[in-house]
Amino acid sequence: MKVLSVFGTRPEAIKMAPVVKALAEAPNINSRICVTAQHREMLDQVLRLFAIEPDYDLDLMRHQQTIGDITAEVLQELIPIIEHERPELLLVHGDTTTTFAAALAAYYTHTRIGHVEAGLRTSDKYAPYPEEMNRRLTGALADLHFAPTLIAANNLRMENVPDERIHITGNTVIDALLDTVEKPCELAEYGLGAIDWSRRVLLLTCHRRENWGEPMQQIFAAVKRVLEEHPDIELVFPWHKNPLVRDTALLYLGESERIHYVEPLDYLPFCHVMRRCHLALTDSGGLQEEAPALGKPVLVLREVTERPEAIDAGTAALAGVGFDSVYAAATRLLDDEAAYRQMAQAINPYGDGRAARRIVDIIGAI
Ligand code: UD1
Ligand code: UDP
Repeated sequence: MKVLSVFGTRPEAIKMAPVVKALAEAPNINSRICVTAQHREMLDQVLRLFAIEPDYDLDLMRHQQTIGDITAEVLQELIPIIEHERPELLLVHGDTTTTFAAALAAYYTHTRIGHVEAGLRTSDKYAPYPEEMNRRLTGALADLHFAPTLIAANNLRMENVPDERIHITGNTVIDALLDTVEKPCELAEYGLGAIDWSRRVLLLTCHRRENWGEPMQQIFAAVKRVLEEHPDIELVFPWHKNPLVRDTALLYLGESERIHYVEPLDYLPFCHVMRRCHLALTDSGGLQEEAPALGKPVLVLREVTERPEAIDAGTAALAGVGFDSVYAAATRLLDDEAAYRQMAQAINPYGDGRAARRIVDIIGAI
């Protein structure tokens, strides 16, 4: 059976890495890989780390690309590849524009679609934007839904997806994390030598489209105030490549010797920073799954999340995107030791590290 896996951004690559590895090892599967390169450097970092060699690289990334550009180019470039390869199944992951456009290309060519990390929902079509509709539309097109959790599976059932098409597998991010975090890593080699780990270190990531503009300005201003009021903390901010994020950060968070702006980190050092940090502030999806597994409290820089499991488990909390709410949430965790301890539990509602194997077993059996 031929399976064509298509992905294009950093998080898709991290979460698909265990799947493509398991596909390559499966004796009855002919695994082909196409990267859209919606991201370039941030994708290549992951491909290098996991030694993934794509069969096709669409090399699509442009600076200031729009989601319309990406959608159109994926359709144009991918359809001829699908027609040439004729896979029995096209596998996509998550909720990016690559995900949706690749699923649409598969539909246009009458190709069966498997959706990894299926069923995440907020029920607000603009939060997160455009991810909520990317995953809903991909779900509408998919034939096989690999739901990471029971909550995700139930979301699909509520949309009348037949039970036999839904498989609860755990999230493949846990496979990638458990594999990576155990590998040795010298942080100084990655430009992280100046961080004083005897202090409390906050890890910040922030890049989401719905946070561009006013929300991002307020988030950065709140973090700046928190830093000013806590001279004992340091901030590590591996900032996204998007110039828009960087310009906003320089204006509203500003510069200080306790703020470490670093290039997007390879996944290996990033996992080690997550493991050593005191607290993570993030609008990322993946971090909401990884940090709880490492016993790190996460303040989610969003109004809603499609990952309620970590919130229910008490290791993550919604901090919103306004100055006051972000400031209050961070200050509380820094000043109230009991509140911090209560959140700093290693709870992992997202899987046991064997999700990829389950997905490939299911594919192999169809
Ligand atoms: C995309 C996804 C988002 C995901 C995020 C992960 C969409 C619409 N958004 O958002 O769901 O959470 O990836 O990071 O699919 N850039 C580089 N080098 C890179 C990557 C990006 O220079 O390796 C710059 C480019 O200028 C590019 C810009 O970042 O135009 C934005 O990239 P894009 O993929 O459009 O959006 P993200 O915000 O990364
Ligand atoms: N990540 C990384 N280096 C960084 C920042 C994040 O390797 O400098 C990893 C992180 O561990 C997670 C994924 O990238 O697995 C999250 O990607 P991102 O925040 O770009 O996307 P999202 O999860 O929001 O879709």
